[in-house]
Amino acid sequence: MRVGVRCCPLILCLALVSVFGLGEDLDRPLFGPPGSPIRLHESDPDLKKVLGFAEERYNRGSNAMHLRRVSRFVSATKQEIKAQTSLYRTNADVHFLKNIFISKLSNSDYNNSPLNEKSPLFVFSAWSCLFSLTFMLHNQDQFGPASEQPNMLEAQSTIQPSEESVELLGQFKEFMVRYNKVYSSQEEADMRLQIFHENLKTAEKLQSLDQGSAEYGVTKFSDLTEEEFRSTYLNPLLSQWTLHRPMKPAPTAKGPAPGSWDWRDHGAVSPVKNQGMCGSCWAFSVTGNIEGQWFLKNGTLLSLSEQELVDCDGVDQACRGGLPSNAYEAIEKLGGLETEMDYSYKGHKQTCDFTDRKVAAYINSSLEISKDEKDIAAWLAEKGPISVALNAFAMQFYRKGVSHPMKIFCNPWMIDHAVLLVGYGERNGIPFWAIKNSWGEDYGEEGYYYLYRGSNACGINKMCSSAVVN
Ligand SMILES: *[C@@H]1O[C@H](CO)[C@@H](O)[C@H](O)[C@H]1NC(C)=O
Ligand SMILES: *[C@@H]1O[C@H](CO)[C@@H](O)[C@H](O)[C@H]1NC(C)=O
Repeated sequence: MRVGVRCCPLILCLALVSVFGLGEDLDRPLFGPPGSPIRLHESDPDLKKVLGFAEERYNRGSNAMHLRRVSRFVSATKQEIKAQTSLYRTNADVHFLKNIFISKLSNSDYNNSPLNEKSPLFVFSAWSCLFSLTFMLHNQDQFGPASEQPNMLEAQSTIQPSEESVELLGQFKEFMVRYNKVYSSQEEADMRLQIFHENLKTAEKLQSLDQGSAEYGVTKFSDLTEEEFRSTYLNPLLSQWTLHRPMKPAPTAKGPAPGSWDWRDHGAVSPVKNQGMCGSCWAFSVTGNIEGQWFLKNGTLLSLSEQELVDCDGVDQACRGGLPSNAYEAIEKLGGLETEMDYSYKGHKQTCDFTDRKVAAYINSSLEISKDEKDIAAWLAEKGPISVALNAFAMQFYRKGVSHPMKIFCNPWMIDHAVLLVGYGERNGIPFWAIKNSWGEDYGEEGYYYLYRGSNACGINKMCSSAVVN
């Protein structure tokens, strides 16, 4: 028996499980002109997915008494809004699913309404992208008094997606393709889109309050919450001052700092590396410093092993963080570092596989460098790249330019990321530090982060150190 319900328009806007493969033709413009609507036949496989998905979405959160199913398909169109983003508009009849609880319906809307021959029209639009995604563009439930039911055409005209939603979806899609993101389920994709949206707002806030020339926005970390980002890529140990091993203070540089300096121009810096999903930044910061010290001593630029530190430095905590001061000591005790080639990076802790036969570079001691940015610059120009640490909050959304976040975004006492200072200078009158990061070359400016120099921004001056090679 078909049970009639009050005639109410139901407008659902949602996205559909991917019908396209990931990673295909990025060279197609993402924002082309919309195509014209194409009428779909009832047997269209994409349409089946859309309808199934709409039902699932509509019934989500309903209890078993209120489940509805599509009973009759009326019409559907498909329109390409942008390359690979289609808008489906569908009309279909729905009715309550007959179920064992039906006799218990007492206070539902259905009980209050006269049985009606007509079943409600189920009008919705669905987005299809090249990923698996659910996205509500409008409120899901729009039950209203029967008199407010618009006719089908009016209903269609009310479901124009907002410019903003189209834009967001486009950005998310572009993000997924660029960074090869694959989500395991509809729910996951759904959640990641919401996080992406929130992160865009944070990036906008950073952007509007930046005092430098930085651009913030979508990065490969845009689908991570702040907490996920911190626990995966950052190093909370760095702000636990009590854990730090005291080091001898470094003598200040002999002369004043030149106007600018960049160790990349002098062959002392290896290519940008990638720590992966492991809080091992401390190891990368330290190897970067030693690569520079070894180059200045020996004349050869080596790429040295972080995995050796992750596996064999028993004082530090591998992917859960570490401190450069401890790492120097561990390297001294071990007898040196192997090369990246001999002891390659895995991004998780494994059994220590160090052999002193393969030591490529050694260190003899380590030093703590001044906390004055002028002294730091002078030391850097004279002695080589410096292991430093900073508050990385703004780094999650950094794209390019000289970043100068306000203090509220970048508490100098909350240091959570270790990096390598390789140079400094000025860009359009804005003084900067050139910082080699370990999040791959697709981060920031070819893997580098540029931070304002002169206000101890983000605590960049708090933890400067270097190994010594005699
Ligand atoms: C640099 O290191 C290599 C390998 O350890 C060594 O053979 C070479 O003599 C060193 N060169 C200098 C100038 O110290
Ligand atoms: C520095 O350390 C290396 C390796 O441990 C050692 O062979 C060398 O003698 C040390 N140099 C000095 C000056 O102590």
